Amino acid sequence: MKFFLDTANTDEIRALLPSGLVDGITTNPSLIAKSGRKIAEVIKEIASLVSGSVSAEVTATETKAMLEEGKYLASLADNITVKVPLTPAGIETCHSLSQAGIGVNVTLCFSAAQALLAAKAGAQFISPFVGRLDDIGQDGMALVSDIVEMYDAQGMATEVLVASVRHPIHVVEAARIGADVATLPPKVLHQLYRHPLTDKGLEAFLADWQKTGQSIL
Ligand code: E4P
Repeated sequence: MKFFLDTANTDEIRALLPSGLVDGITTNPSLIAKSGRKIAEVIKEIASLVSGSVSAEVTATETKAMLEEGKYLASLADNITVKVPLTPAGIETCHSLSQAGIGVNVTLCFSAAQALLAAKAGAQFISPFVGRLDDIGQDGMALVSDIVEMYDAQGMATEVLVASVRHPIHVVEAARIGADVATLPPKVLHQLYRHPLTDKGLEAFLADWQKTGQSIL
């Protein structure tokens, strides 16, 4: 399973690149707003830092304008994936951009029926939002499981990109179910490392080592 970072903060991206764990980036209008920067400038910088897919989202709501925005965003760098919402205009835009060879990430997916539409429209990625479903008392990971099963049964090539990830259990479950990608807020990627027994064990090893007076080099 690929790890994408869910952020438009280039400092956070730079800090995590040396880990070798970052396969791509997702952004959305809220994350761009949080960065306080112009969308074209920040997306270009992100795309220059990461060789994998960088999702940049349209904000128009009608097909014609959405298509124009999508083409503009795709022109910013070779590794841009255009993100469109799961609406009739978004699906139509997904179809046109995909036909033109531009990768599309269909976002704001909350049902398997919606995921079916995105795959039929040629989406490169479908983004089910697990955290937001959990927030309203539904089972976000059950949706991921349904989509993975449905795409497998139909031989659909659209990749399942688990979004709205809130904690490490979402990431582990996504991998167990067979999702293609999980997009993680940097905080969640940091949380994946943590276990109190690792810290405790390392502390004990280092204390014992110090007693030997040795150094490896
Ligand atoms: C990424 O593609 C999504 O826009 C993002 O994961 C949404 O996360 P949120 O529900 O925490 O805002």
